[in-house]
Amino acid sequence: MTTIPEYDIARSAACPLDPAPAMRARQEEGPLTRVRLWDGTMAWLVTSHAEHRAVLAHPRVSVEPARGLPRLSAVEAAAMEAMAAREDGEGGISFILMDDPEHARLRRMVTGAFTVRRVEAMRPATQRIADDLVDAMLAGPKPVDLVEAFSLPLPSLVISNLLGVPYDDHEFFQANSRTIINRDSSAEVRGQAQYALGAYLYTLLGEKVDKPGDDLLSGLAERIAAGELSQQEATQMGVLMLFAGHETTANMITLGTLALLRQPDQADALRKGDDPQVAAAVEELLRYLTITHGGLRRVALEDIEIGGQVIRAGEGILAVNEVANRDPAVFPDPDRLDVGRNARSHVTFGYGVHQCLGQSLARMELQVAYPTLLRRIPSLALAAEVEQIPFKHDGFVYGAYELPVTW
Ligand code: HEM
Repeated sequence: MTTIPEYDIARSAACPLDPAPAMRARQEEGPLTRVRLWDGTMAWLVTSHAEHRAVLAHPRVSVEPARGLPRLSAVEAAAMEAMAAREDGEGGISFILMDDPEHARLRRMVTGAFTVRRVEAMRPATQRIADDLVDAMLAGPKPVDLVEAFSLPLPSLVISNLLGVPYDDHEFFQANSRTIINRDSSAEVRGQAQYALGAYLYTLLGEKVDKPGDDLLSGLAERIAAGELSQQEATQMGVLMLFAGHETTANMITLGTLALLRQPDQADALRKGDDPQVAAAVEELLRYLTITHGGLRRVALEDIEIGGQVIRAGEGILAVNEVANRDPAVFPDPDRLDVGRNARSHVTFGYGVHQCLGQSLARMELQVAYPTLLRRIPSLALAAEVEQIPFKHDGFVYGAYELPVTW
């Protein structure tokens, strides 16, 4: 009898920017393999690029916790149970955990704010934010923690402006977002964080119903006033966009800077690149780093066939971005960071109907962030050994808590 290996996303300390060795081993065994989760249940691990996309595009897979998504730890299982038990969805995080048609109904209400054209209009303001942050870094003492000084405030300021959330409250929403995204947050603590953000946005939305401005939450407030959306639904959408909108991009800025500072030839290519070259480099960094790690969760609603393998109704699925992005059939020499390659088909933003709503925004922010840092601070360097950097092994999103830099 063959033993089923355990689900294991521990990265090796020697290569913290590479996928976990256990995930690589599963990928070598085949595109779909079974793993045993912490509670003895099984899930399918999808590790090749083609099958990864096929499963996420399949109309008969679900993302709803109540349908039996794989649970990756005891604390998380309790959090999901609590979420699934609430019929009104209170405490949930909106359409990222809903199937169509509800998912599509809600998502459609906000897609207009994230089109390439709308995002491009935000580029000059984003550039100003990046320049101001670099000015402050250069005027202050060194070394400095890049997360605190640059990676976190940049996307936080951008998403606050877009949503119409006062940036003065950033410590409150950053701390609560961190709690939501931490795998080890207990159901109670995560619930409190979601509740706190929810209560805050609920009040803000109420104010915008009375006095709308020119921002995304005001757009939702108008829909509340028109009876198209409940204040509760709008609140959950606000929570989703607020936390998805800055933690992810902040981690990409931090890890991308780390990767570039460790490979000066790649940093140099990006520093000297024109706009299309910078855009290509950003795609490669998204592929290489794949901060959305550990597997996007799904559950089969009926028996489906993926890559010649039948997944039975009710079985859990983990579509593992970080190894699909290192599939040698699609990305030759996949473990090499090569900012000159065409990495556009990476799956860091997911695939199918739930593909990241904010991807154009994230791309634009990263296209501003890396060249601004590298061009304005040409001598930028790490001020710590890689072994000393505290990586976010506990998060749904990979990153680093701190990155000391100097110049
Ligand atoms: C580099 C930064 C980012 C990465 C790597 C990323 C990654 C992802 C991934 C993988 C998903 C799909 C989840 C799934 O299929 O289960 C997703 C969904 C989502 N992302 Fe992002 N994201 C980023 C930035 C942003 C930003 C800036 C926003 C701004 C609001 C955002 C908002 C969302 C939303 C609302 C969803 C849910 C989409 C849906 O369910 O239809 N993300 N993101």
